[in-house]
Amino acid sequence: METSPPLSLAGTTVILLLLLSHISNVSGFNDVAEACKNIIDKDGEDAGPTYEFCLTSLQVLTGAKHADLQHIAFLSANLTVANATHTERIVKELSKNEKRNVVKAAYQTCMDCYDEIVQNARTAANEILPNKNYVTANKVISSAMSAVDNCKDEFDDSSVKSPIFKENNDMHALLGILIRFIVKLQE
Ligand SMILES: *[C@@H]1O[C@H](CO)[C@@H](O)[C@H](O)[C@H]1NC(C)=O
Ligand SMILES: *[C@@H]1O[C@H](CO)[C@@H](O)[C@H](O)[C@H]1NC(C)=O
Repeated sequence: METSPPLSLAGTTVILLLLLSHISNVSGFNDVAEACKNIIDKDGEDAGPTYEFCLTSLQVLTGAKHADLQHIAFLSANLTVANATHTERIVKELSKNEKRNVVKAAYQTCMDCYDEIVQNARTAANEILPNKNYVTANKVISSAMSAVDNCKDEFDDSSVKSPIFKENNDMHALLGILIRFIVKLQE
C-alpha cells in the first residue's frame, strides 16, 4: 500500500495563500456588479438610479475589485467629486458666453450648487475614509442632492431648456448611489 507523500513546502504555501485570499475576500465585493446589486433592487419600483447606471458609472473605478463597502463608498465619493468638478467647469464656460440675464442668473445659481456638491462630496469621502463618520457623510450628501434639485429648478422655472439636463440627472443618480452605500454602512 502506498502512503501519500507529505505535502511539499511549495504545496503548503499555495494552499495557505488560497485560504488567505479567500478569507480576505469574504467582506469585500468581487466586482462592481456585486456592489451595485447590493444597493439597488434590480426588479424593484425604486425611483432611484438603475442597476445599469450604477454598473456603467462605477466601472471606471480602479481598485474597486475585492474592495469592502467602506472603500467602494470612498471611491464612489471620489468619483462624484471629479464628476461634479467637471460639470462646474462646464457651467462656468456656458455662463461666460450667455447674454440673457435670466439664464446667466440660473448658471450662477448652478455654479454655487455645484461648488457645494464638490465640497460636500469631498467632505463625505473624508468622513467615510478614514473617519467612519457615516452620519455626517449622509447629511452632506443629502444636502448635495438638494443642491442638484435647486440647479434643476432654476431651468424648470424658466422657459429655457436646461443645457445641463444630462449632467444634473447624472449627478443626482451618482449621489443616489453614494448615499445608498452610506446607508448600507450605517446599518
Ligand atoms: C459623470 O458621470 C456620468 C454618469 O456616470 C458619466 O456619464 C459622465 O461621463 C461623467 N462625466 C465625467 C466628466 O466624468
Ligand atoms: C480620486 O479621483 C482623482 C480624480 O479623478 C483621481 O486622480 C484619483 O486617483 C482618485 N483617487 C482614488 C483613491 O481613487
